[in-house]
Amino acid sequence: MAAIKLTINNQSHALDVDPDMPLLWAIRDVVGLTGTKFGCGIAQCGACTVHLAGTPTRSCSIPVSAVAGQKITTIEGISKNGDHPIQKAWIEHQVPQCGYCQSGQIMSAVALLKQTPKPTDEDIDTAMQGNICRCGTYNRIRQAIHTAASEMSTAPKVPKTTPKIGKR
Ligand code: FES
Ligand code: FES
Repeated sequence: MAAIKLTINNQSHALDVDPDMPLLWAIRDVVGLTGTKFGCGIAQCGACTVHLAGTPTRSCSIPVSAVAGQKITTIEGISKNGDHPIQKAWIEHQVPQCGYCQSGQIMSAVALLKQTPKPTDEDIDTAMQGNICRCGTYNRIRQAIHTAASEMSTAPKVPKTTPKIGKR
């Protein structure tokens, strides 16, 4: 069996697994990144959401062979210290209750703000509708997304080039 090459959070992995193994299994059980959760296993709840080339994707329902060579980002890859503005807003608004759905919720929210930096309530509801929360945290999720959007829009931009300081 040929190894399947995956790039997860900018790290390369060569996995000696069945090509039909769901990506979620590979991420959790083979690579050992357990932040992504298993909920329904049939692409209905969103708990297993990761980014595939930047697009939110249900990792429980896609085989590893279909994502070889593509860029995959999991919850562990969105920030080094859990300090992405979305994660900070989640804490500020005390969004997680049992917490089980929240990694998937955050991945969908991060993708939404990349696409739509200032989302309306309607934009949020549309983007997040595939992520189910049995604890009913939807209102807090909305508030947290608005907080993160505002934080991200006011964050100082790092200049691409360092201005040259002339010698006198
Ligand atoms: S576990 Fe993948 S959508 Fe529910
Ligand atoms: S926080 Fe419990 S399922 Fe969402």
